[in-house]
Amino acid sequence: MSLLTRAEQALSSHFDQAAGVGSPSRLVAAMRHAVFSGGARIRPQLCMAVATACGDDVPHLTNAAAVALELMHCASLVHDDMPAFDNADTRRGLPTVHKAFSEPLALLAGDGLIVMAYRVLLQAGVKRPDRLIRLMDNMTTGVGLPNGIVAGQAWECETSADLGQYQRAKTGALFVSATCAGALSCGHEPEPWGPLGAYLGEAYQVADDIRDVIADAVTLGKPAGQDALHARPSSAQALGLDGAIAHFDHLIDQAASSIPACSCRDMLCQLVQVEAERLVPKALCEGYFRIHPEVAPARVSAPY
Ligand code: IPE
Ligand code: IPE
Ligand code: MG
Ligand code: MG
Repeated sequence: MSLLTRAEQALSSHFDQAAGVGSPSRLVAAMRHAVFSGGARIRPQLCMAVATACGDDVPHLTNAAAVALELMHCASLVHDDMPAFDNADTRRGLPTVHKAFSEPLALLAGDGLIVMAYRVLLQAGVKRPDRLIRLMDNMTTGVGLPNGIVAGQAWECETSADLGQYQRAKTGALFVSATCAGALSCGHEPEPWGPLGAYLGEAYQVADDIRDVIADAVTLGKPAGQDALHARPSSAQALGLDGAIAHFDHLIDQAASSIPACSCRDMLCQLVQVEAERLVPKALCEGYFRIHPEVAPARVSAPY
């Protein structure tokens, strides 16, 4: 079974179980819309891949940890899209949760998913309290203060922010939680796996900033040009497009080099490389530079 299939199956069964019977149906529908709308599932796949490298001796705990992190990610997207934040009408090619279900339900759907994440993990780990406590702490680090998603999003409300700190908190931290959760669910120490999550997570946000400039809304499945519109700190704006692409390539190289020696090293390297090409396809960059030769780097501008 592929990691993606394993992630989808685990999400589906945990969601059904955790939603229970008798919950308000529109709230459950809004939560389902937030989760089952075609996400790439990179965080749970990363968690499962690291667990595989660490022996994966309690797979149901790995699955729950992976699902919990994806639920947190989906919750963060629901709130991020709301009018108080980025005011986005589309996500994953569909109407955002507040557009499809109303703002009150979007707020509650995000809240509900955050609490569901803890419940999924708690119920799966009750017989392994030693591992459970560390997994809970690890997830909280990726989501909360001082360096998780909530803190990252809050940098947008400050008068100034360090671009790297903002990106590492709003996006990188949950990737660190994902790689570390893969190790922790197997009773391994997480430290060797932190850098992979940190480099890949930062690369992810740099890629998101690049795509916000060079891709259109149909390709993205969400509005384009948002960083300039909302005056958000962005790698493309800070480094220029060429500089941001070079920074992305460097982070991907660092992510690949940071993978600890293990029997799954090749599989993890491949995951990183496939993601890199999916996130910032070379053809997309070349197409953009062809139309905008004024921002094309000198080394590739000549043929256009
Ligand atoms: C989007 O994350 C938001 C960022 C943190 C850049 P993903 O690109 O992982 O979104 P989905 O889950 O695949 O929709
Ligand atoms: C990342 O921020 C999303 C969260 C941390 C919730 P962005 O605002 O840049 O992500 P997109 O572009 O909406 O996916
Ligand atoms: Mg945002
Ligand atoms: Mg956004």
